[in-house]
Amino acid sequence: MAGSRSSLRGGLRRGLAGTALAPAVKLGRQADVLAAAGDAAGAEPLYAQALAADPTLAGTHNNHGNALRALGRLDEAAAAYRAAVSHGLHEGMAHYNLGSVLRQAERQDEAEAAFRQALALRPDHAEAWNNCGNLLRDLGRFGRAAVDYRRALALRPDWADAHDNLGAVLYLLHEQGGEEDAAALARLWRRDHPDNPLARHIGAAIAGEEADPRAPDDYVRQTFDLFADEFDRKLAELDYRAPALLAGLLSDDEPAGDLDVLDAGCGTGLCAKALRPYARRLVGVDLSDGMLNRARARGLYDGLYAAELVGFLAAHRLAFDLIMAADVFCYFGVLDDALTAACTALRPGGRLAFTVEMLDPADGRPHRVATHGRYAHAEAYICTAVANAGLVLRRCDHDRLRFESGEPVTGLVVLAERPAV
Ligand SMILES: C[S@@+](CC[C@H](N)C(=O)[O-])C[C@H]1O[C@@H](n2cnc3c(N)ncnc32)[C@H](O)[C@@H]1O
Repeated sequence: MAGSRSSLRGGLRRGLAGTALAPAVKLGRQADVLAAAGDAAGAEPLYAQALAADPTLAGTHNNHGNALRALGRLDEAAAAYRAAVSHGLHEGMAHYNLGSVLRQAERQDEAEAAFRQALALRPDHAEAWNNCGNLLRDLGRFGRAAVDYRRALALRPDWADAHDNLGAVLYLLHEQGGEEDAAALARLWRRDHPDNPLARHIGAAIAGEEADPRAPDDYVRQTFDLFADEFDRKLAELDYRAPALLAGLLSDDEPAGDLDVLDAGCGTGLCAKALRPYARRLVGVDLSDGMLNRARARGLYDGLYAAELVGFLAAHRLAFDLIMAADVFCYFGVLDDALTAACTALRPGGRLAFTVEMLDPADGRPHRVATHGRYAHAEAYICTAVANAGLVLRRCDHDRLRFESGEPVTGLVVLAERPAV
C-alpha cells in the first residue's frame, strides 16, 4: 500500500510566510488533485516541477514518491521518500512508504531497516508489522516473521489476512525443521485468539494440541472463500484426481440419468461433469459461498445449497441414490456422525463414494490432523466407521489423490452402500 499522501504542512507554511514559494505549493496542490483522481502520470511531472522550484517541500517529496511508485519507477520512488525524510518528514508513514517500495524493488535489507524505523516511530501501525512479517517470510526468516504478525494481530485481533499469514508462516517454520519454535508460537496464537477459527484449528495442529473432532465450520468457510478463485488452477497443478477416481468407482454402471445425486462438499463443482449423466436431479451442498458461486457458474446442478454437510444430510432422509464426497472428509477427524447421516440420507441400495487421505498404520491413531489443517484416516478406522454407520463397504482402493510439495498424497478411495433392506 502506498500509504497516506503526506500533509502539505511544510509547503503551506512556506506559502503563507512568503510569496516566492507559492508557485511550488500551487503546483504541488494541482498534482495532489490529479493523484487523488488516480492520474499518477499527470501528477508526477507537476510534483517534479514543484520540487525543482522548492526542493525543501518534504510532504511533496513523499507524494512524489507515491506517484512514482504508482508508475512502477521504484528506485526513483525510494529516492523521493528518502528526500522526504531528509527534508524533515520524519514520520512513521514516510519510512513505511520507503520500506514498502524497497521491498517491491527487492532491496530487502534496506526495506527491513526502513520498516524498523517506521515501527520505532509508530509502534501502533499494524500494517507495518504485517508487511515487515511478509518481508521476513519472503527471506525465509519464518520465526521472526511470526513474531511480527503477532504484533500486527495484537493491534488488530480480527484481521483475517494477518491470521492467514501467521498460520502459513508457522506451517513453513514447522516443515523446515523449526517444530518446537512453531509449536510454541502456535500455542501463543491459540492463547491470544481463542475465538479465531484459524488460530483454533491450525494453531492446534501445529502446537500438537487436541484438535476439534472436525475442522470448525467458520475455518472451512473462510479458507475456501479465500481459495475459491484459485482452486481449480491450483488443484490442476497438483494433478488432483479425487473426482476422477470416484467416477471410476461408478464406471461399471451405465448412466441412465435416473438417480437423485448429492455432491457433498461440492466445492467449485469439479465432480459435476462425471455425476451429471447419472442424475435425474443433481444437487450440491457446501459451506463456502465462494466455492458455490464457482459451482453455479458451471450450470450443471439442479440445486446448490450453502449448508453444513452433516446437518444437511440428516435433514434429507431417504433423499438420494448416490452421494459423492471428494476430498471433503479430510476436513473431519471423527467421521461417525457424517457417515451415519450419509446412511440416513441414502435410499436402500444407495451408494456413498468418498476419498480420504490415508494415515500410515504405523501412526497407530485412527485419524490425525496435519499441520496444514487436513485430517488423514487409518484404513482400519474407515472400515469400522463405515460398518458402524450401517453401511456395507464395497471397495476401499489405495491411489494417488494429488501431489503436495512434489510428493504423492495417497488416499483411500471408498465405495459403500446402504443395504437394500
Ligand atoms: C478440497 S474441497 C473439494 C471440493 C470438491 N468436492 C472437489 O473435489 O473439487 C473441500 C470442500 O468441502 C467443503 N466442506 C468441508 N467441510 C464441510 C462441511 N462440514 N460441510 C459442507 N462443506 C464442507 C469445503 O467448503 C470445500 O469446498
